[in-house]
Amino acid sequence: MRRHKKPNGKPGVSRRNFLQTAGIAGGAVASGLLVKPAGRVRAAPSPASAPLGPGPVEVTLEVNGQKHVLKLEPRVTLLEALREHLGLTGTKRICDHGECSACTVLVDGRATCSCMTLALDAQGKKITTIEGLAQGKTLAALQKAFIDHDAFQCGFCTPGMILSLKALLDKHPQATAEQVKAAVAGNYCRCGALPNILKAGNAVAKG
Ligand code: FES
Ligand code: FES
Repeated sequence: MRRHKKPNGKPGVSRRNFLQTAGIAGGAVASGLLVKPAGRVRAAPSPASAPLGPGPVEVTLEVNGQKHVLKLEPRVTLLEALREHLGLTGTKRICDHGECSACTVLVDGRATCSCMTLALDAQGKKITTIEGLAQGKTLAALQKAFIDHDAFQCGFCTPGMILSLKALLDKHPQATAEQVKAAVAGNYCRCGALPNILKAGNAVAKG
């Protein structure tokens, strides 16, 4: 894939290439979701219809049970929509290239890299971010377990880890240790928290 220089001088992937790649991949996948290694997914593009953009278009996103109508350029990713347009900064951007899974959110219950998903393609789907887990001041079981097992250091990987585990445990509440490990295999922790992250996931699986 051709790379270009970002304004900060670092190499990146041009939006055009990203969109072209997404379009090619979309044609090859019938399921509607692209499965990446370690079970990570990104939402596949919508079937082609009338061309959109390049100016802003109306995009409706359902995030944590709330509908938001936004005006976004079609190139805007779900990650950018969440962080920069909805102020939901719990979803982290680290690589912005689908490599680290820090940006994981749930899309219709599936762990999904929001940096590799266009906001347009997330329309009509239920999006859950880390902000949607707690009920008021009551933390979700996984959030409590991360605290109890000291499962974070810098915290940058934490929201993605928790949502990857949630995708597993919502489907398999009594997941095995192997399943817990596989659920976060695509999430990178640059600190030393992975052993405790696995302990937290296993604790919730064991009730
Ligand atoms: S920020 Fe999306 S995978 Fe790294
Ligand atoms: S706690 Fe720092 S990257 Fe995981």
